[in-house]
Amino acid sequence: MPRSGSRSATCEAAPNIALVKYWGVRDEARALPYNSSLSVTLDRLRTRTRVTFDSGLAEDRFVLNGEVVDGAPRHAVGEMLDRIRVESGERDRAEVRSSNNFPTASGLASSASGFAALAGAAAYAAGLAPTPQHLSQIARFGSGSACRSIFGGFVEWRSGRRSDGRDCYATPLFPEDHWPELVDLVALVADAPTKAVRSARAMQLTVATSPEFSGRQREIPGRLARIRRAIGARDASALFPAIMEECDSFRRVCETTTPPLDYLTGTSRAILAAVDEVNRGAGRPVAAYTHDAGAHVHVFLHASDVPRMRRRLAQVAGIAGTRVLHAGPGARRVG
Ligand code: PMV
Repeated sequence: MPRSGSRSATCEAAPNIALVKYWGVRDEARALPYNSSLSVTLDRLRTRTRVTFDSGLAEDRFVLNGEVVDGAPRHAVGEMLDRIRVESGERDRAEVRSSNNFPTASGLASSASGFAALAGAAAYAAGLAPTPQHLSQIARFGSGSACRSIFGGFVEWRSGRRSDGRDCYATPLFPEDHWPELVDLVALVADAPTKAVRSARAMQLTVATSPEFSGRQREIPGRLARIRRAIGARDASALFPAIMEECDSFRRVCETTTPPLDYLTGTSRAILAAVDEVNRGAGRPVAAYTHDAGAHVHVFLHASDVPRMRRRLAQVAGIAGTRVLHAGPGARRVG
């Protein structure tokens, strides 16, 4: 049915960093993960996306940071728009204009913020009024981790058990102001390589070939419960070792994949070693490292320990810079 009225909507969303990683899909068509995951939605970094359905367009258009984008990224955007068209009855093609308030080349650009903002803007522009839970179910088809960026603060993505995926969605655990002293000091690695294999494909290689994958699956529910509890109690001495244990487990399944997936550079590994050394020297867990499928390292610590960690990281060659981030808000409509 032809629609009248506003055909545009704008949404903002932020990247998130996983403390319990999503890595492996049990049903590719429905985008259902093997395990639940848990992340912190970050402040300051935002993707803003405007979607306009327009009867004058012959095909979907994707403009990122002012430049028309073709190929695989436009295809992925088109698939998300198709999903919204099926749900809403919208028939027109759309223009998608997206920009990041941080340099895309910094390596912090995330498909999570991009697909969370796109899912929201497209749904609202098509006249839908989705609940945040439903929006998270739509967003995961663009990129799994995008379903967590719908919510702010500390977020859990429940893998669910149903084969139809109705119990698979992200849900907020603790709000962004739950633990203000908890800082994510991001160490940006100079010359971080771009991904050779897309994570959606890489994780399925892990499922198929890593001898460590099933052991990791058995460990995750217990570790996730510990991490959830430690965040709830704002207990850094319980949280930080668990974050590193999880990161090491993620890295191990990547490294034992055939062919091996190695996301880190020598600088990244030196940062992990520096965090270990600071913890050993202090005789307590001062900080926790974690990384996703990339070379940059997120170091979680108490705000009062940021200066000492910065001094230690200044001795590591190959760090392009550090940024202090906190938990931030979820996706929201801004126009
Ligand atoms: O959301 P994707 O398909 O880009 O995969 C994200 C995978 C990790 O970042 C490594 C882990 C996670 O849970 O975010």
